[in-house]
Amino acid sequence: MLKLSKLAVAAALVVVAGAASAGEVEVLHYWTSGGEAKSVAELKKIMTAKGHVWKDFAVAGGGGDNAATVLKSRVVSGNPPAAAQIKGPAIQEWASEGVLANLDATAKAEKWDALLPKVVADVMKYKGNYVAAPVNVHRVNWMWANPEVLKKAGVAGMPKNYDEFFAAAEKIKKAGLIPVAHGGQNWQDFTTFESVVLGVGGAKFYQDSLIKLDQKALTSDTMKKSLETFRKIKSYTDPAAPGRDWNLATAMVMQGKAGFQFMGDWAKGEFLAAGKVPNKDFLCAAAPGTANAYTFNVDSFAMFKLKDAGAQKAQADLAASIMGTEFQEVFNLNKGSIPVRLNMNMDKFDDCGKASTKDFVSTAKSGGLVPSVAHGMAIKPAAEGAIKDAVSQFWNDDKISVADGMKNIAKAAATK
Ligand code: BGC
Repeated sequence: MLKLSKLAVAAALVVVAGAASAGEVEVLHYWTSGGEAKSVAELKKIMTAKGHVWKDFAVAGGGGDNAATVLKSRVVSGNPPAAAQIKGPAIQEWASEGVLANLDATAKAEKWDALLPKVVADVMKYKGNYVAAPVNVHRVNWMWANPEVLKKAGVAGMPKNYDEFFAAAEKIKKAGLIPVAHGGQNWQDFTTFESVVLGVGGAKFYQDSLIKLDQKALTSDTMKKSLETFRKIKSYTDPAAPGRDWNLATAMVMQGKAGFQFMGDWAKGEFLAAGKVPNKDFLCAAAPGTANAYTFNVDSFAMFKLKDAGAQKAQADLAASIMGTEFQEVFNLNKGSIPVRLNMNMDKFDDCGKASTKDFVSTAKSGGLVPSVAHGMAIKPAAEGAIKDAVSQFWNDDKISVADGMKNIAKAAATK
C-alpha cells in the first residue's frame, strides 16, 4: 500500500513537473506543399511527445517571401512567434534588432560546435552566440526528370552539359511534351538562373558575380553567355508557367507532362510524398555543367525573445529536438534534404541523398561549395530582392535584350 502510494506521489510529481515545464510553441514556417507538410508534421510530433503544445503558423508561398512579410508585421507589433523559419544573412539582420533569443545553453549542452560544419555554425551565430538552430542541407543545383518522358522522346540519359540539355529539350518538344516544367515566382526563376551561372561559369565565377557582386564579372562575356542560356531554357517552358507554384511544376514532371525541372531537392520530397520511387519513377542529377559544384541552402529556425518560462523551455526543447538524431533523420527523409548534423547514418537515404552528402563533402574541399542566392543564403536581403527582380524581368520579357538584362542586373546588384 505504502509502496503504491509512493508510486502515485512520484507519478503525480512527474505530471506536475511536466505541466510546469511544458509550454506553447508557436512556429512560423512556409512548409505547406505535400512533402513539406509531411516533414514539418514530424517536428510537431516530437514536440507534442515532449508535452508541448504546437501552435502551427503556416504561411503558404514557396521560398518564404510571404512568410517573411508576415513575420515582420508580427515582430513590429510586439507579438513575435516563439520560432520562425529564417535563414542565411537574414538571421544576422534579425539578431541585430535585438529580438532573437540566445540559444547557447542548449547549443553547449548538445555540443553543436562539434556536430555542425563550421560554414553552417557561423551562419547560426550572431557575435559568437547561437541564435538559430539548423534543420537540414538542401542542394539547389539539381535537375529532376521523368524517365518515361525521356524514353518516349528518345533521350538516352540525364544531360551533363547544355549542348546535351538543349538536344534533349528539342527531342521532348518534338514528342509533343513540355521540355521544362517551370513556375512563376522570382525565386523559381533565380533557382534556375543560379544553376545556369554555375554551369556556364563555374564556382569561382558564381562567387565573383552572384556573391561578391563584382561589377566586372556581372558585365562579362561569361554573364552574357549565362543570360543567353537562361533565355534559351525559357523557350522550352510552357506559356502557363507564370504564377504557377513550384510543386505544381514538379507534379507536371511526375505526371509525364514535362521532362525536366530545375529545382532544389525539396522537389524530391514532393515525389516521395506521392509514393514515387527514385531512379524508377524519377531521376535526379546535378544541373548541366554543375557536377563538381554544390549550391547549399540550409533551413533553420530562429527563436524570438519571450518572457514566459514555459515558452522559453519549449524553445530550448525545440532547438534541442531540431538538432537531435531522431528529427534529423525522419525530417530529412521526408523533406528531400540531408541531415545538417555531421556523422549521421545515411543507410535509409536514397541515391540522390547519398550523392548529396558525398558531393557536399567533396565540394567543401575543392572550393565548389557555394551558398544559394535564390534561397537567401548568400547576400543581404535588399540586394538579393533587387537582383531577383531584375532576373525575373529579363526572364518574363523577351523584348529586354541580353545586353540590357545584364546592365539591369549589374545595377540591381549595387543596391545597398
Ligand atoms: C526552402 C525549402 C522549401 C522551398 C520551397 C526553400 O527556400 O529552403 O525548405 O521547401 O523553399 O518552399
